[in-house]
Amino acid sequence: MKLRYFSHSAFQITTDEGLRILIDPFLDSNPTSPVGADEVEADFILLSHGHGDHLGDTLSIARRCNALCICENELASYIASQGIDAHSMHIGGGFDFEFGRVKLTQALHSSSTPDNVCHGAPTGLLIKIKDKIIYHTGDTGLFSDLKLIGELNDVHTMMLPIGDNFTMGIDDAIRACEFVNPGRAIPMHYNTFPVIEADPDVFCTKVRAKGIDCRVMAFGEEITI
Ligand code: NI
Ligand code: MN
Repeated sequence: MKLRYFSHSAFQITTDEGLRILIDPFLDSNPTSPVGADEVEADFILLSHGHGDHLGDTLSIARRCNALCICENELASYIASQGIDAHSMHIGGGFDFEFGRVKLTQALHSSSTPDNVCHGAPTGLLIKIKDKIIYHTGDTGLFSDLKLIGELNDVHTMMLPIGDNFTMGIDDAIRACEFVNPGRAIPMHYNTFPVIEADPDVFCTKVRAKGIDCRVMAFGEEITI
C-alpha cells in the first residue's frame, strides 16, 4: 500500500485495492500543505479528534467524494448533523471496514466540535490493513499505556507528533517510540506554525540511536509501506 504525507497530521493511505483513506485532512488552511482540499480523493476519512487542524477540510471532501467519516462518537454526531455519513466509535473499540480494521486508542489531549456544542474525546488510530498495523497517535502527550499498545500490537509504522507546545516534543516522542517499538517511526505535527517548530532530522537521528527505524517524510511525499 501507499502512504502519502501532506504535512501536519494529514496522511493518505491507498490500499493495494485502490481504496483511499484520508487521515486528519487539514489542507486548505494549512500553510505547509502542498495540496488543497479539492485535489484529494477519499473513500474514507479517519479523524483523531475535532480540532480545526485535524477536522480540517473533512466536510467539504466527504461531501464531494461521498466518503465515510470514521471517528469518536461526539465528533461523529457533529459530522452527521452536517449531513455527512459518519461511523461512530469510541476508545478501546475496533471495527472491520472494507479496507481493514480501525481501533481507537487513548490520547492525552482534548477535543471539541467546531460549534463548541460537544467536547468529545481525543483519540489515536490503530489501522490494520492486511498484516500491517499503522498507528497514528493523534495529538497526544506522553503516557505510559503506550507500552501496552506496543505490547498488544505489532506496529509496522507509527506516526507521532514532535512539535511540542500542544503535543509531545522530541524527547517525549523518542520515549513514546521506545514504548511502542514500531518497525518505523514517522514524525508529524511540526513546522506548520512557529509555535510547533521542531527539527525532524534531530528526532529521527535520536530514534535510530535507540535501534528503531525512522523516516522523515517530505510534505507531499508518498512512500510504499
Ligand atoms: Ni488538537
Ligand atoms: Mn493539533
